[in-house]
Amino acid sequence: MTELIENINNAASLEELENLRIDTLGKKGILTLEFAKMKTIPNEEKKAFAQNLNEQKVKVTDAIETRKVILEKIALDKKLENEKIDVTRFNNTLSCGATHPVVETMDRIVTYFQNLNFAVEEGPLVEDDFHNFEALNLPKYHPARDMQDTFYNKDYTLLRTHTSPVQIRTMLKQDTPIRMIAPGTVFRRDFDITHTPMFHQIEALVVDEADKISFANLKHVLVEFLHHMFGDVDVRFRPSFFPFTEPSAEVDISCVFCKGDGCRVCSHTGWLEVLGCGVVDQNVFKAVGYENKSGYAFGLGVERFAMLIHNIGDLRSLFESDTRLLGQFK
Ligand code: PHE
Repeated sequence: MTELIENINNAASLEELENLRIDTLGKKGILTLEFAKMKTIPNEEKKAFAQNLNEQKVKVTDAIETRKVILEKIALDKKLENEKIDVTRFNNTLSCGATHPVVETMDRIVTYFQNLNFAVEEGPLVEDDFHNFEALNLPKYHPARDMQDTFYNKDYTLLRTHTSPVQIRTMLKQDTPIRMIAPGTVFRRDFDITHTPMFHQIEALVVDEADKISFANLKHVLVEFLHHMFGDVDVRFRPSFFPFTEPSAEVDISCVFCKGDGCRVCSHTGWLEVLGCGVVDQNVFKAVGYENKSGYAFGLGVERFAMLIHNIGDLRSLFESDTRLLGQFK
């Protein structure tokens, strides 16, 4: 009996314990068989015999119950230990996303001008004829409208073809001095290696009292800006035409430019056009009710900048969501 109790107390697993229980109290267990002997025991001894057996049964049952509780706790602890999740463990295989090169370039440019105290303005993508054309000195039937392949909607609204309408909206809502940039999406009906129907521009407008703002101010700001973006490049102002500026210029940078990981040669002419600019045409001021003002404006294509900075050949690849391209910008 003592040996049996000892075995129970030392049972290493719930399974071993259950086997001991079956051997003792099961159908053919030792104690069960002992109880069966009752029939053959003389009447006067029966009571003592039964009492003794019952005591043994209670002892065994108690021992099994006690051991069972202990073994169950051990099993539970083991399970908890095995299934534990270490929330502090760092998973090196997780891959993070990256900022899209267009967004990154846009952020860089916006931050540059914010540091020069330019406010950031926004306007709607669906514009009307007045803000996108008329007020910008592009009257109806003016041939210069052909410069911008416009998406027209059925209700005579249109998808803005440039960020210049934000100039108009800003001047209509506030007085001078104005010093603003307008980053945003624009749309044109064009699609080839250097054009996508949706792209991004950053517009800038500075307006103050008459004669306060000149082409020289514009030139200084742009040369500084282009050096910041492209390093030690030559900058060239080439006479051009925009209905909303007079005089107007397109700005080129010299084609071999070195920044970060080496030098790049970008075109056979030696120059690469990067933006349009000019002194604000007085007709634009007239359209918004301004009198005796002077100002300059410029507009640039963000994709063009991103492509030059990251040496990307095909503009369309910026919008294909190919992770092999995007993964390089982590
Ligand atoms: N809006 C012009 C374009 O989209 C760019 C520009 C802006 C030119 C401001 C001059 C002044 O081509």
